[in-house]
Amino acid sequence: MKSLVILISGRGSNMQALLEAEFYMDRITVISNNPAAEGLEFAKKYNVETIILDHRSYPDRETFDHALAEKIDTYQPKLIALAGFMRILSNSFVQRYQGRLMNIHPSLLPAFPGLKTHARVLQEGIKIHGCTVHFVTPTLDHGPIVIQAAIPVLPNDTEASLAARVLLQEHRIFPQAVQWFMEDRIRLEGNRVEISDCCICESALYSPGLPE
Ligand code: GRF
Repeated sequence: MKSLVILISGRGSNMQALLEAEFYMDRITVISNNPAAEGLEFAKKYNVETIILDHRSYPDRETFDHALAEKIDTYQPKLIALAGFMRILSNSFVQRYQGRLMNIHPSLLPAFPGLKTHARVLQEGIKIHGCTVHFVTPTLDHGPIVIQAAIPVLPNDTEASLAARVLLQEHRIFPQAVQWFMEDRIRLEGNRVEISDCCICESALYSPGLPE
């Protein structure tokens, strides 16, 4: 069964991109650790089941992650997509879903793991920035890379303008990665991801504005 669980914490624009993507799914469930996540309203409009599991109701990370895993398992998802899920996951959680847990991150990993990626890119004078979809491993923002998209950093870019242009690319590559996974086209070879019937340019996207 093609069941997808999407974990969110806030705005939910990547979740929205997944819900709007035109791929077939038997069931989609959205779980938020934040009762006030704006994305929950949008998911409801799509008649998608939403669940709130407030991490503040649990004494520690392990207990919350255990409850989250129990909830997730009731849906038997083929894939769990982290779409702006702003919590560090315990090793046991990550290992439980090894190879079935995908994250979208706003930088060209392995550069700039963690938060505030756009500000750090500007600070470092980086010329090319972007986003990455990767499988999750116990190391934060690290793991086999499925697809990346790059954009140029423009001379007058601000943190906000850069974030906005990267986000457009996030909305392009996350649905693509999820679709490949659902179609069983992704094979993990150690740290490398192979996608069947896909040319390299499909998993390394360049946005307009970058010189050929
Ligand atoms: C995105 O930039 C994503 O890459 C990062 O968190 C942000 C979430 O945004 N992991 P949204 O909630 O999907 O709009």
